Amino acid sequence: MGSNHNNSMSNIIVLGAQWGDEGKGKIVDLFSDRFDIVARYQGGHNAGHTVYIGPTKYVLKLIPSGILRKGVLAVIGNGVVIDLAALVSEMDQLEAAGIDVASQLAISNRAHVIFPFHRMVEKMSEAREGRTSIGTTSRGIGPCYEDKIGRRGIRIADLFEADSFGPLYDTLCEDKQTLAKAFGIHETLDYAEIRRQYETIAERIKPLVRDTSWLLNKSMREGKRVLFEGAQGTMLDIDHGTYPFVTSSSAAAGGACTGAGVPPTAINGIIGVSKAYITRVGAGPFPSESLDAMGDLIRKRGNEFGSVTGRPRRCGWFDVPLLKYTAAVNGFDSLIITKLDVLDELDEVPVCIGYKINGKLTTDEMPATNRGIESIEPVYERLPGWKTETRGVTDFDKLPDAAKRYIDLLEAQTGVEVGCVSTGPERNETLVRPGSKLSKLL
Ligand code: GDP
Ligand code: IMO
Ligand code: MG
Repeated sequence: MGSNHNNSMSNIIVLGAQWGDEGKGKIVDLFSDRFDIVARYQGGHNAGHTVYIGPTKYVLKLIPSGILRKGVLAVIGNGVVIDLAALVSEMDQLEAAGIDVASQLAISNRAHVIFPFHRMVEKMSEAREGRTSIGTTSRGIGPCYEDKIGRRGIRIADLFEADSFGPLYDTLCEDKQTLAKAFGIHETLDYAEIRRQYETIAERIKPLVRDTSWLLNKSMREGKRVLFEGAQGTMLDIDHGTYPFVTSSSAAAGGACTGAGVPPTAINGIIGVSKAYITRVGAGPFPSESLDAMGDLIRKRGNEFGSVTGRPRRCGWFDVPLLKYTAAVNGFDSLIITKLDVLDELDEVPVCIGYKINGKLTTDEMPATNRGIESIEPVYERLPGWKTETRGVTDFDKLPDAAKRYIDLLEAQTGVEVGCVSTGPERNETLVRPGSKLSKLL
Protein backbone atom coordinates (compact mmCIF):
# COMPACT_ATOMS: atom_id res chain seq x y z
CA MET A 1 0.00 0.00 0.00
CA GLY A 2 1.31 3.50 -0.83
CA SER A 3 2.80 5.00 2.27
CA ASN A 4 2.46 8.73 1.82
CA HIS A 5 5.47 9.29 4.09
CA ASN A 6 6.25 12.94 4.22
CA ASN A 7 9.94 12.77 4.94
CA SER A 8 12.88 14.35 3.18
CA MET A 9 14.49 11.06 2.14
CA SER A 10 11.64 10.41 -0.19
CA ASN A 11 12.64 9.60 -3.71
CA ILE A 12 15.14 6.97 -4.74
CA ILE A 13 16.52 5.44 -7.90
CA VAL A 14 17.11 1.67 -7.97
CA LEU A 15 19.24 0.65 -10.92
CA GLY A 16 21.54 -2.02 -12.29
CA ALA A 17 25.25 -1.72 -11.45
CA GLN A 18 26.39 -4.30 -14.02
CA TRP A 19 25.06 -5.54 -17.41
CA GLY A 20 21.43 -5.98 -16.40
CA ASP A 21 19.47 -8.82 -14.76
CA GLU A 22 20.91 -7.98 -11.36
CA GLY A 23 17.58 -8.68 -9.66
CA LYS A 24 16.12 -5.17 -9.91
CA GLY A 25 12.57 -6.53 -10.25
CA LYS A 26 12.77 -8.42 -6.97
CA ILE A 27 14.25 -5.45 -5.13
CA VAL A 28 11.83 -2.88 -6.56
CA ASP A 29 8.90 -5.14 -5.69
CA LEU A 30 10.25 -5.62 -2.18
CA PHE A 31 10.63 -1.90 -1.49
CA SER A 32 7.58 -0.71 -3.44
CA ASP A 33 5.23 -1.00 -0.47
CA ARG A 34 7.05 1.96 1.07
CA PHE A 35 6.45 4.14 -2.00
CA ASP A 36 3.40 5.72 -3.61
CA ILE A 37 4.71 5.63 -7.17
CA VAL A 38 7.15 3.43 -9.09
CA ALA A 39 8.33 4.95 -12.38
CA ARG A 40 10.30 3.54 -15.29
CA TYR A 41 12.47 6.10 -17.07
CA GLN A 42 14.16 4.33 -20.00
CA GLY A 43 14.28 1.18 -22.07
CA GLY A 44 11.25 -0.72 -23.21
CA HIS A 45 10.13 -4.33 -23.38
CA ASN A 46 13.75 -5.40 -23.77
CA ALA A 47 13.71 -5.49 -19.96
CA GLY A 48 12.61 -8.59 -18.08
CA HIS A 49 12.14 -8.01 -14.36
CA THR A 50 11.21 -11.16 -12.47
CA VAL A 51 9.18 -11.01 -9.30
CA TYR A 52 8.10 -13.98 -7.20
CA ILE A 53 5.18 -13.52 -4.88
CA GLY A 54 4.99 -16.87 -3.17
CA PRO A 55 5.00 -19.46 -5.93
CA THR A 56 3.59 -17.04 -8.52
CA LYS A 57 6.12 -15.71 -11.00
CA TYR A 58 5.62 -12.42 -12.81
CA VAL A 59 7.97 -11.08 -15.50
CA LEU A 60 7.49 -7.35 -15.97
CA LYS A 61 8.83 -5.97 -19.23
CA LEU A 62 7.49 -2.53 -19.91
CA ILE A 63 5.29 -1.88 -16.90
CA PRO A 64 7.04 -0.92 -13.63
CA SER A 65 7.27 -3.74 -11.09
CA GLY A 66 5.46 -1.54 -8.55
CA ILE A 67 2.14 -2.34 -10.21
CA LEU A 68 2.11 -5.63 -8.30
CA ARG A 69 1.42 -3.73 -5.04
CA LYS A 70 -2.14 -2.65 -4.48
CA GLY A 71 -2.43 1.14 -4.35
CA VAL A 72 0.97 1.86 -5.91
CA LEU A 73 0.86 3.90 -9.11
CA ALA A 74 3.07 2.59 -11.93
CA VAL A 75 4.33 5.31 -14.26
CA ILE A 76 5.84 4.72 -17.70
CA GLY A 77 7.97 7.83 -18.15
CA ASN A 78 8.78 9.89 -21.23
CA GLY A 79 12.18 8.22 -21.65
CA VAL A 80 10.66 4.78 -22.20
CA VAL A 81 9.94 3.46 -25.71
CA ILE A 82 6.56 1.76 -26.01
CA ASP A 83 5.54 -1.04 -28.33
CA LEU A 84 1.76 -0.72 -28.15
CA ALA A 85 1.10 -4.39 -28.87
CA ALA A 86 3.56 -5.42 -26.14
CA LEU A 87 1.97 -2.92 -23.76
CA VAL A 88 -1.58 -4.21 -24.12
CA SER A 89 -0.44 -7.80 -23.97
CA GLU A 90 1.29 -7.08 -20.65
CA MET A 91 -1.74 -5.13 -19.40
CA ASP A 92 -3.98 -8.10 -20.26
CA GLN A 93 -1.74 -10.54 -18.42
CA LEU A 94 -1.70 -8.37 -15.31
CA GLU A 95 -5.45 -7.85 -15.43
CA ALA A 96 -5.95 -11.60 -15.73
CA ALA A 97 -3.84 -11.94 -12.57
CA GLY A 98 -6.29 -9.66 -10.78
CA ILE A 99 -4.34 -6.41 -10.90
CA ASP A 100 -6.29 -3.19 -11.27
CA VAL A 101 -4.28 -1.90 -14.22
CA ALA A 102 -6.81 0.79 -15.17
CA SER A 103 -6.35 2.62 -11.89
CA GLN A 104 -2.68 1.80 -11.28
CA LEU A 105 -1.01 2.69 -14.57
CA ALA A 106 -0.07 6.06 -16.08
CA ILE A 107 1.64 6.39 -19.46
CA SER A 108 3.62 9.42 -20.58
CA ASN A 109 2.23 11.37 -23.51
CA ARG A 110 5.85 12.14 -24.45
CA ALA A 111 7.11 8.56 -24.66
CA HIS A 112 8.10 7.37 -28.14
CA VAL A 113 6.25 4.60 -29.92
CA ILE A 114 7.89 1.42 -31.27
CA PHE A 115 6.29 0.17 -34.51
CA PRO A 116 6.77 -3.26 -36.15
CA PHE A 117 8.98 -1.61 -38.76
CA HIS A 118 11.48 -0.77 -36.03
CA ARG A 119 12.08 -4.47 -35.57
CA MET A 120 12.57 -4.81 -39.30
CA VAL A 121 15.12 -2.00 -39.30
CA GLU A 122 16.99 -3.74 -36.47
CA LYS A 123 17.73 -6.62 -38.83
CA MET A 124 19.73 -4.20 -40.92
CA SER A 125 22.35 -3.80 -38.26
CA GLU A 126 22.03 -7.15 -36.55
CA ALA A 127 21.84 -9.66 -39.37
CA ARG A 128 23.83 -8.04 -42.13
CA GLU A 129 27.14 -9.38 -43.23
CA GLY A 130 30.08 -7.23 -42.27
CA ARG A 131 28.25 -5.45 -39.46
CA THR A 132 28.95 -5.86 -35.79
CA SER A 133 26.09 -7.76 -34.27
CA ILE A 134 25.25 -6.53 -30.76
CA GLY A 135 23.07 -9.51 -29.88
CA THR A 136 20.08 -7.31 -29.15
CA THR A 137 16.72 -8.49 -27.88
CA SER A 138 15.25 -7.78 -31.37
CA ARG A 139 12.49 -5.64 -29.91
CA GLY A 140 13.07 -2.59 -32.11
CA ILE A 141 14.46 -0.61 -29.18
CA GLY A 142 17.53 0.85 -30.91
CA PRO A 143 15.76 1.92 -34.14
CA CYS A 144 12.97 3.60 -32.15
CA TYR A 145 15.52 5.63 -30.16
CA GLU A 146 17.25 6.44 -33.47
CA ASP A 147 14.04 8.01 -34.73
CA LYS A 148 13.63 9.86 -31.42
CA ILE A 149 17.11 11.38 -31.58
CA GLY A 150 16.69 11.92 -35.33
CA ARG A 151 13.62 14.07 -34.50
CA ARG A 152 11.30 12.08 -36.71
CA GLY A 153 9.83 9.75 -34.08
CA ILE A 154 6.18 9.44 -33.14
CA ARG A 155 5.15 10.00 -29.56
CA ILE A 156 2.13 8.70 -27.66
CA ALA A 157 0.47 12.15 -27.80
CA ASP A 158 0.73 12.18 -31.61
CA LEU A 159 -1.50 9.11 -31.82
CA PHE A 160 -4.41 11.23 -30.68
CA GLU A 161 -4.00 14.00 -33.23
CA ALA A 162 -5.22 12.43 -36.44
CA ASP A 163 -4.16 15.43 -38.55
CA SER A 164 -0.54 15.22 -37.56
CA PHE A 165 -0.31 11.47 -36.94
CA GLY A 166 -1.24 10.56 -40.53
CA PRO A 167 1.52 12.53 -42.28
CA LEU A 168 4.10 11.66 -39.58
CA TYR A 169 3.29 7.98 -39.93
CA ASP A 170 3.35 8.03 -43.72
CA THR A 171 6.72 9.78 -43.82
CA LEU A 172 8.23 7.37 -41.31
CA CYS A 173 6.90 4.37 -43.26
CA GLU A 174 8.30 5.74 -46.51
CA ASP A 175 11.70 6.12 -44.86
CA LYS A 176 11.63 2.55 -43.65
CA GLN A 177 10.54 1.15 -47.00
CA THR A 178 13.37 3.02 -48.73
CA LEU A 179 15.85 1.71 -46.18
CA ALA A 180 14.56 -1.85 -46.45
CA LYS A 181 14.93 -1.72 -50.22
CA ALA A 182 18.43 -0.28 -50.06
CA PHE A 183 19.51 -2.91 -47.57
CA GLY A 184 17.84 -5.80 -49.38
CA ILE A 185 15.40 -6.67 -46.62
CA HIS A 186 12.41 -8.37 -48.16
CA GLU A 187 9.76 -8.18 -45.52
CA THR A 188 6.22 -7.33 -46.38
CA LEU A 189 4.63 -5.26 -43.69
CA ASP A 190 1.05 -4.09 -44.05
CA TYR A 191 1.60 -0.48 -43.09
CA ALA A 192 -2.09 0.47 -43.33
CA GLU A 193 -3.06 -2.45 -41.10
CA ILE A 194 -0.39 -1.55 -38.53
CA ARG A 195 -1.74 1.98 -38.45
CA ARG A 196 -5.31 0.73 -37.88
CA GLN A 197 -4.12 -1.62 -35.15
CA TYR A 198 -2.20 1.17 -33.41
CA GLU A 199 -5.16 3.55 -33.62
CA THR A 200 -7.37 0.95 -31.97
CA ILE A 201 -4.86 0.36 -29.16
CA ALA A 202 -4.40 4.11 -28.75
CA GLU A 203 -8.12 4.50 -28.04
CA ARG A 204 -7.89 1.76 -25.44
CA ILE A 205 -4.97 3.27 -23.53
CA LYS A 206 -6.16 6.88 -23.89
CA PRO A 207 -7.55 7.13 -20.34
CA LEU A 208 -4.11 6.21 -18.95
CA VAL A 209 -2.11 8.73 -20.99
CA ARG A 210 -0.92 11.71 -18.97
CA ASP A 211 1.73 14.35 -18.68
CA THR A 212 3.61 12.09 -16.27
CA SER A 213 6.36 14.64 -15.57
CA TRP A 214 3.70 17.03 -14.28
CA LEU A 215 2.06 14.19 -12.36
CA LEU A 216 5.34 13.10 -10.72
CA ASN A 217 6.35 16.64 -9.76
CA LYS A 218 2.93 17.41 -8.34
CA SER A 219 2.87 14.14 -6.39
CA MET A 220 6.33 14.77 -4.95
CA ARG A 221 5.29 18.28 -3.88
CA GLU A 222 2.37 16.67 -2.05
CA GLY A 223 4.85 14.50 -0.14
CA LYS A 224 4.30 11.31 -2.09
CA ARG A 225 7.32 9.05 -2.48
CA VAL A 226 8.63 7.94 -5.84
CA LEU A 227 10.90 4.99 -6.62
CA PHE A 228 12.55 5.21 -10.03
CA GLU A 229 13.10 1.72 -11.48
CA GLY A 230 16.04 1.39 -13.84
CA ALA A 231 16.06 -1.14 -16.64
CA GLN A 232 19.17 -2.78 -18.12
CA GLY A 233 22.33 -1.75 -16.26
CA THR A 234 25.02 0.92 -16.19
CA MET A 235 27.37 -1.10 -18.40
CA LEU A 236 24.61 -1.15 -21.03
CA ASP A 237 24.11 2.64 -20.84
CA ILE A 238 24.45 4.33 -24.22
CA ASP A 239 27.17 6.72 -22.94
CA HIS A 240 28.83 4.92 -20.05
CA GLY A 241 28.53 1.29 -21.07
CA THR A 242 30.69 -0.92 -23.27
CA TYR A 243 29.78 0.92 -26.47
CA PRO A 244 28.70 -0.21 -29.05
CA PHE A 245 27.66 -3.34 -27.10
CA VAL A 246 25.05 -1.40 -25.16
CA THR A 247 21.37 -0.61 -25.31
CA SER A 248 20.20 2.70 -26.78
CA SER A 249 19.04 4.51 -23.64
CA SER A 250 20.42 6.24 -20.54
CA ALA A 251 20.22 3.47 -17.98
CA ALA A 252 22.47 5.28 -15.48
CA ALA A 253 21.07 7.40 -12.66
CA GLY A 254 21.13 10.63 -14.66
CA GLY A 255 18.66 9.06 -17.07
CA ALA A 256 16.04 8.99 -14.33
CA CYS A 257 15.77 12.77 -14.37
CA THR A 258 15.56 13.23 -18.15
CA GLY A 259 13.53 10.05 -18.60
CA ALA A 260 10.91 10.94 -16.01
CA GLY A 261 10.97 14.72 -16.22
CA VAL A 262 12.01 15.38 -12.64
CA PRO A 263 14.80 17.63 -11.40
CA PRO A 264 18.03 16.12 -9.98
CA THR A 265 17.24 17.94 -6.73
CA ALA A 266 14.19 15.69 -6.29
CA ILE A 267 16.36 12.61 -5.89
CA ASN A 268 17.39 11.69 -2.35
CA GLY A 269 19.12 8.39 -2.82
CA ILE A 270 20.66 6.15 -5.45
CA ILE A 271 20.79 2.41 -4.93
CA GLY A 272 22.89 0.09 -7.10
CA VAL A 273 21.83 -3.51 -7.56
CA SER A 274 24.58 -6.03 -8.28
CA LYS A 275 24.80 -9.79 -8.31
CA ALA A 276 27.31 -11.47 -6.00
CA TYR A 277 28.92 -12.46 -9.32
CA ILE A 278 28.22 -11.00 -12.78
CA THR A 279 26.41 -11.92 -15.98
CA ARG A 280 25.96 -10.53 -19.44
CA VAL A 281 23.54 -11.41 -22.27
CA GLY A 282 24.54 -10.70 -25.85
CA ALA A 283 27.90 -9.80 -27.33
CA GLY A 284 30.64 -7.51 -26.02
CA PRO A 285 33.73 -7.52 -23.84
CA PHE A 286 33.53 -9.13 -20.39
CA PRO A 287 36.83 -9.08 -18.44
CA SER A 288 35.87 -11.44 -15.59
CA GLU A 289 33.94 -13.97 -17.71
CA SER A 290 34.29 -17.57 -16.55
CA LEU A 291 34.29 -19.91 -19.53
CA ASP A 292 35.01 -23.06 -17.55
CA ALA A 293 32.96 -25.46 -15.43
CA MET A 294 32.63 -22.84 -12.67
CA GLY A 295 30.76 -20.59 -15.11
CA ASP A 296 28.48 -23.50 -16.01
CA LEU A 297 27.80 -24.20 -12.34
CA ILE A 298 26.76 -20.58 -11.74
CA ARG A 299 24.53 -20.60 -14.83
CA LYS A 300 22.82 -23.73 -13.57
CA ARG A 301 22.47 -22.76 -9.91
CA GLY A 302 21.55 -19.18 -10.74
CA ASN A 303 19.21 -20.22 -13.56
CA GLU A 304 21.01 -17.71 -15.73
CA PHE A 305 18.89 -17.74 -18.84
CA GLY A 306 17.40 -14.54 -20.23
CA SER A 307 13.93 -13.71 -18.93
CA VAL A 308 13.02 -12.09 -22.28
CA THR A 309 14.82 -14.15 -24.91
CA GLY A 310 15.71 -17.32 -22.98
CA ARG A 311 19.35 -17.01 -24.10
CA PRO A 312 21.96 -18.48 -21.73
CA ARG A 313 23.61 -15.62 -19.85
CA ARG A 314 27.39 -15.42 -19.86
CA CYS A 315 28.63 -15.76 -16.28
CA GLY A 316 31.69 -14.47 -14.48
CA TRP A 317 33.09 -13.16 -11.21
CA PHE A 318 32.35 -10.01 -9.28
CA ASP A 319 34.37 -7.24 -10.89
CA VAL A 320 35.56 -4.58 -8.44
CA PRO A 321 36.96 -2.04 -10.95
CA LEU A 322 33.73 -2.29 -12.95
CA LEU A 323 31.66 -1.71 -9.84
CA LYS A 324 33.85 1.23 -8.80
CA TYR A 325 33.33 2.68 -12.25
CA THR A 326 29.52 2.31 -12.13
CA ALA A 327 29.48 3.62 -8.55
CA ALA A 328 31.28 6.74 -9.74
CA VAL A 329 28.99 7.27 -12.73
CA ASN A 330 25.86 6.85 -10.60
CA GLY A 331 26.92 8.02 -7.15
CA PHE A 332 25.61 4.96 -5.31
CA ASP A 333 24.62 5.59 -1.72
CA SER A 334 24.28 1.90 -1.11
CA LEU A 335 24.73 -1.41 -2.88
CA ILE A 336 22.40 -4.38 -2.85
CA ILE A 337 24.12 -7.71 -3.45
CA THR A 338 21.74 -10.31 -4.90
CA LYS A 339 21.97 -14.05 -5.49
CA LEU A 340 24.53 -14.70 -2.75
CA ASP A 341 22.92 -18.14 -2.32
CA VAL A 342 23.98 -19.09 -5.86
CA LEU A 343 27.61 -19.23 -4.66
CA ASP A 344 26.85 -21.55 -1.71
CA GLU A 345 28.47 -24.67 -3.19
CA LEU A 346 31.77 -23.17 -4.32
CA ASP A 347 35.04 -24.24 -2.69
CA GLU A 348 36.46 -20.81 -3.37
CA VAL A 349 35.01 -17.62 -4.77
CA PRO A 350 37.19 -15.61 -7.14
CA VAL A 351 36.80 -11.81 -7.14
CA CYS A 352 38.38 -9.60 -9.77
CA ILE A 353 40.04 -6.97 -7.61
CA GLY A 354 42.06 -5.18 -10.26
CA TYR A 355 42.84 -4.87 -13.95
CA LYS A 356 46.24 -5.17 -15.52
CA ILE A 357 46.30 -2.95 -18.58
CA ASN A 358 49.54 -2.98 -20.58
CA GLY A 359 51.22 -4.48 -17.55
CA LYS A 360 50.03 -1.69 -15.25
CA LEU A 361 47.70 -2.42 -12.35
CA THR A 362 44.61 -0.27 -12.01
CA THR A 363 41.54 -0.58 -9.81
CA ASP A 364 39.37 2.25 -11.01
CA GLU A 365 39.93 2.79 -14.69
CA MET A 366 37.57 1.62 -17.45
CA PRO A 367 39.00 1.73 -20.96
CA ALA A 368 36.71 3.46 -23.45
CA THR A 369 37.15 1.07 -26.36
CA ASN A 370 36.42 -2.59 -26.89
CA ARG A 371 39.99 -3.25 -27.74
CA GLY A 372 40.97 -1.55 -24.50
CA ILE A 373 38.56 -3.64 -22.44
CA GLU A 374 39.58 -6.82 -24.24
CA SER A 375 43.21 -6.11 -23.36
CA ILE A 376 42.42 -6.21 -19.65
CA GLU A 377 44.03 -8.99 -17.65
CA PRO A 378 41.82 -9.45 -14.61
CA VAL A 379 43.63 -9.89 -11.29
CA TYR A 380 41.81 -12.26 -8.95
CA GLU A 381 41.71 -12.77 -5.24
CA ARG A 382 40.26 -16.16 -4.27
CA LEU A 383 38.22 -16.20 -1.11
CA PRO A 384 37.30 -19.40 0.70
CA GLY A 385 33.75 -20.56 -0.06
CA TRP A 386 31.25 -21.07 2.75
CA LYS A 387 29.82 -24.40 1.56
CA THR A 388 26.73 -23.75 3.64
CA GLU A 389 23.24 -22.95 2.48
CA THR A 390 22.43 -19.23 2.75
CA ARG A 391 19.10 -19.36 0.94
CA GLY A 392 16.53 -17.40 2.89
CA VAL A 393 18.90 -15.93 5.51
CA THR A 394 17.43 -12.63 6.73
CA ASP A 395 20.03 -11.52 9.26
CA PHE A 396 23.59 -10.58 8.30
CA ASP A 397 24.97 -12.01 11.53
CA LYS A 398 23.47 -15.41 10.67
CA LEU A 399 25.45 -15.69 7.44
CA PRO A 400 28.39 -18.10 7.52
CA ASP A 401 31.65 -16.31 8.41
CA ALA A 402 33.16 -16.83 4.96
CA ALA A 403 30.07 -15.27 3.33
CA LYS A 404 30.33 -12.29 5.69
CA ARG A 405 34.00 -11.94 4.78
CA TYR A 406 33.04 -12.03 1.10
CA ILE A 407 30.48 -9.23 1.52
CA ASP A 408 32.95 -7.25 3.68
CA LEU A 409 35.55 -7.53 0.94
CA LEU A 410 33.13 -6.25 -1.72
CA GLU A 411 32.24 -3.32 0.52
CA ALA A 412 35.86 -2.49 1.33
CA GLN A 413 37.08 -2.84 -2.25
CA THR A 414 34.27 -0.89 -3.91
CA GLY A 415 34.06 1.78 -1.21
CA VAL A 416 30.24 1.56 -1.19
CA GLU A 417 28.28 0.13 1.73
CA VAL A 418 26.43 -3.12 1.13
CA GLY A 419 23.10 -2.18 2.68
CA CYS A 420 21.17 -5.24 1.64
CA VAL A 421 21.84 -8.83 0.62
CA SER A 422 19.37 -10.96 -1.30
CA THR A 423 19.46 -14.67 -0.48
CA GLY A 424 16.68 -15.98 -2.72
CA PRO A 425 14.17 -14.85 -5.34
CA GLU A 426 11.29 -14.26 -2.95
CA ARG A 427 10.41 -11.13 -1.02
CA ASN A 428 11.24 -12.56 2.40
CA GLU A 429 14.60 -13.94 1.28
CA THR A 430 16.37 -10.66 1.90
CA LEU A 431 18.35 -8.94 4.62
CA VAL A 432 18.58 -5.19 5.08
CA ARG A 433 21.38 -4.18 7.41
CA PRO A 434 20.13 -2.12 10.35
CA GLY A 435 21.75 1.31 10.56
CA SER A 436 22.80 1.26 6.89
CA LYS A 437 22.35 4.27 4.67
CA LEU A 438 19.91 2.13 2.70
CA SER A 439 17.73 1.44 5.71
CA LYS A 440 17.46 5.21 6.23
CA LEU A 441 16.42 5.78 2.63
CA LEU A 442 13.54 3.33 2.80
P1 GDP B 1 16.28 -7.85 -13.39
O1 GDP B 1 16.19 -7.74 -14.88
O2 GDP B 1 17.38 -7.04 -12.82
O3 GDP B 1 14.97 -7.60 -12.72
O4 GDP B 1 16.64 -9.38 -13.11
P2 GDP B 1 15.97 -10.68 -13.79
O5 GDP B 1 14.61 -10.86 -13.27
O6 GDP B 1 16.14 -10.63 -15.27
O7 GDP B 1 16.97 -11.82 -13.30
C1 GDP B 1 17.17 -12.06 -11.95
C2 GDP B 1 16.77 -13.53 -11.64
O8 GDP B 1 17.30 -13.90 -10.40
C3 GDP B 1 15.28 -13.72 -11.53
O9 GDP B 1 14.95 -14.99 -11.99
C4 GDP B 1 15.02 -13.60 -10.03
O10 GDP B 1 13.87 -14.32 -9.61
C5 GDP B 1 16.26 -14.22 -9.48
N1 GDP B 1 16.72 -13.70 -8.18
C6 GDP B 1 16.69 -12.43 -7.71
N2 GDP B 1 17.31 -12.34 -6.51
C7 GDP B 1 17.73 -13.59 -6.23
C8 GDP B 1 18.48 -14.16 -5.14
O11 GDP B 1 18.90 -13.48 -4.20
N3 GDP B 1 18.76 -15.49 -5.20
C9 GDP B 1 18.35 -16.26 -6.24
N4 GDP B 1 18.66 -17.55 -6.21
N5 GDP B 1 17.65 -15.78 -7.27
C10 GDP B 1 17.36 -14.46 -7.27
P1 IMO C 1 16.91 -5.95 -17.67
O1 IMO C 1 16.13 -4.69 -17.42
C1 IMO C 1 20.25 -7.84 -19.77
C2 IMO C 1 21.17 -6.28 -23.76
C3 IMO C 1 20.95 -7.19 -24.95
C4 IMO C 1 22.04 -6.70 -25.88
C5 IMO C 1 22.05 -5.19 -25.61
C6 IMO C 1 21.24 -4.37 -26.61
O2 IMO C 1 16.10 -7.19 -17.59
O3 IMO C 1 18.15 -5.98 -16.85
P2 IMO C 1 18.64 -4.00 -27.00
O4 IMO C 1 17.56 -4.95 -27.39
O5 IMO C 1 18.39 -3.29 -25.72
O6 IMO C 1 18.99 -3.04 -28.10
O7 IMO C 1 19.95 -4.92 -26.79
O8 IMO C 1 21.50 -5.01 -24.32
N1 IMO C 1 19.99 -6.09 -22.89
C7 IMO C 1 19.86 -6.64 -21.67
N2 IMO C 1 20.65 -7.49 -21.00
N3 IMO C 1 19.14 -7.34 -19.18
C8 IMO C 1 18.34 -6.46 -19.82
O9 IMO C 1 17.30 -5.84 -19.24
C9 IMO C 1 18.67 -6.09 -21.14
N4 IMO C 1 18.11 -5.28 -22.06
C10 IMO C 1 18.93 -5.27 -23.11
O10 IMO C 1 21.10 -8.54 -24.60
O11 IMO C 1 23.28 -7.19 -25.45
MG1 MG D 1 16.14 -8.95 -16.57
